[in-house]
Amino acid sequence: MNRLDGKVALISGAARGIGGETAQLMAKAGAKVVVADVLDELGRRTVAAMTGSGARAEYVHLDVTKEEDWTAAVDLAVSRFGKLDILVNNAGVFIGKGIEEISLDEWNRLVAVNMTGVFLGTKLAAPALREAAKASDHGSAIVNLASIAGIVGSQLDPLYSMTKGGVTLFTKSAALEFARKGHRIRVNSIHPGVIQTDMGEQTFVARAQRTGSNDTTQVRQTVTDTVPWGRLGVPMDIAKGVVFLASDDAGYMNGAGLVVDGGVTAT
Ligand SMILES: NC(=O)c1ccc[n+]([C@@H]2O[C@H](COP(=O)([O-])OP(=O)(O)OC[C@H]3O[C@@H](n4cnc5c(N)ncnc54)[C@H](O)[C@@H]3O)[C@@H](O)[C@H]2O)c1
Repeated sequence: MNRLDGKVALISGAARGIGGETAQLMAKAGAKVVVADVLDELGRRTVAAMTGSGARAEYVHLDVTKEEDWTAAVDLAVSRFGKLDILVNNAGVFIGKGIEEISLDEWNRLVAVNMTGVFLGTKLAAPALREAAKASDHGSAIVNLASIAGIVGSQLDPLYSMTKGGVTLFTKSAALEFARKGHRIRVNSIHPGVIQTDMGEQTFVARAQRTGSNDTTQVRQTVTDTVPWGRLGVPMDIAKGVVFLASDDAGYMNGAGLVVDGGVTAT
């Protein structure tokens, strides 16, 4: 189940956090993985750890807001590993400011990474994904990292919520466009709750600052108490969902959203 033997995956923002864990889990499931990020040193360390345990992986510098970086990343996947079956649009940023606090520059950065990055990745990887799909019974796969903030409102960062809501509906629309054109590229999104990563920590800091404090201990407990399952998420919780959506086991899932939040949005 959920094996990725013979598949080639490109993951943006994979130097650390959810992307990093996904890269490692995909490699363990049999995929060859291109780890892409702007954090070159950390990204190379992630790849070294993977290849050290026998995985086939490569690092590439990718700023998701740059068209030429996407072209180079897709080219690397195809030249090194022969094709591209899976794209994970994982790179994202969180600002943590309210509507009247956030600057136009910060908003533009949020949109550039969280939305333009997903659009460019989808556009520039599509030809290679379409080509690889011809040899697969279940087609190729794109998995977009949205958020529960792309399904319900976010009191901490309404603009982040706006970008993730955009990713949620772009996922469905891209799935429909590719299907209509017969491209056989499945497009699905995953919607994490609060996950313990650098970004997760940024959400605790933003919450603490709302109460005029820098202490995140109490905030972490308060957030944990809101999770029906009783704990915060960890990157592996999400990586497992991404591997599933990317695998042939999800071969009839298209334009869907997988919520992985310990029950937060069930209430
Ligand atoms: N952590 C959470 O609580 C949470 C919840 C819901 C959704 N998400 C989403 O999951 C994804 C991964 O988040 P994470 O928690 O692992 O965060 P993270 O901050 O730990 O990792 C994000 C990665 O994206 C990279 N990145 C940022 N800007 C980039 C750019 N322009 N080009 C390429 N890479 C870039 C960063 O360098 C980093 O490696 C994001 O899309 C995020 O919005 C996270």
